[in-house]
Amino acid sequence: MNQILLLGGSGILGSEVLRLIVLEGHDHVAPTSTDLDIGDKKELFKFISNLKPSWIINCAAWTNVDSAETSFKEAREINSIAVGNLGTAAGLFGCKVIHISTDYVFDGESSKPYDESSPVKPVNKYGESKLQGENFLLLAAPDSYVIRTSWLYGTSGKNFMKTIAGKAIKNEEARVVNDQIGSPTSARDLAGAIISIVNNEPKPGIYNYSNEGSCSWFEIAQRIYERVGANPALVSPISSDSLNLIANRPRYSLLSKEKWKSSGLAMVPRWEDSLDLMLPEIVAELS
Ligand SMILES: NC(=O)c1ccc[n+]([C@@H]2O[C@H](COP(=O)([O-])OP(=O)(O)OC[C@H]3O[C@@H](n4cnc5c(N)ncnc54)[C@H](OP(=O)(O)O)[C@@H]3O)[C@@H](O)[C@H]2O)c1
Repeated sequence: MNQILLLGGSGILGSEVLRLIVLEGHDHVAPTSTDLDIGDKKELFKFISNLKPSWIINCAAWTNVDSAETSFKEAREINSIAVGNLGTAAGLFGCKVIHISTDYVFDGESSKPYDESSPVKPVNKYGESKLQGENFLLLAAPDSYVIRTSWLYGTSGKNFMKTIAGKAIKNEEARVVNDQIGSPTSARDLAGAIISIVNNEPKPGIYNYSNEGSCSWFEIAQRIYERVGANPALVSPISSDSLNLIANRPRYSLLSKEKWKSSGLAMVPRWEDSLDLMLPEIVAELS
């Protein structure tokens, strides 16, 4: 039976992958970052050589976009070097890898959805570290799968949907940027997408996966307010510049899902439908 090694199983995405792996009855091992620090090359090789899993699903990452600007070395150790090491170990011990990457590999200057072969040009250090990770992995283990996703949310961990839902249920005002266009991705949908790769083994390579449709963070916030019964007028639009964030963000990062859809893998639900489905759970978590 296929055994899955899941890395980052406590995160927003990893916890949904773990839930699904358990639900579908896959044989699996999901070490915490204390059990296995993927930045420790020796430990990583030892772990993989002992286990020799059929699949490695890597949801582990340095995900703090702003702190990657000031701690690039540390971010790169997890997002780039460890991912390359993972590829080398996978190659040595015959494991297939599914690795998660980001829309932040793009500069956001496009006016049409990015496909898998669109030119990459990160505008921040996090994106740079993730792009290096993709490259290092595909160099070491060319038959790997890289899934680029965007604006992830789920019931666990800190994320935009949770923050806004928290304000909405307290009828508080929210100021939200309206000049970044992309698509949110339900971690539950993406977990299904990842497991559909395990179950179907499509052609290896890079795939985009986010929810269908396009919106700004402001529009998402308005929908959350509506859905929880709060007044959407409490949400006001602001520009990204007014936030004075440390890291730049791409202004446009919509991902084309044409390749994914033509591969006969898991469905790509619309962002509104997936958000509506998960919102009651997010709200329940808050109370
Ligand atoms: N969040 C987004 O909006 C977004 C958007 C696009 C792409 N992505 C990508 O999607 C993937 C999943 O992101 P996420 O938001 O689910 O991440 P997350 O919630 O921040 O979780 C990160 C996970 O990585 C683990 N981890 C961090 N450093 C580690 C280390 N040295 N060794 C082992 N494990 C380590 C964490 O474990 P601990 O909890 O123990 O620290 C945690 O389980 C990442 O590759 C990310 O780059 C995320």
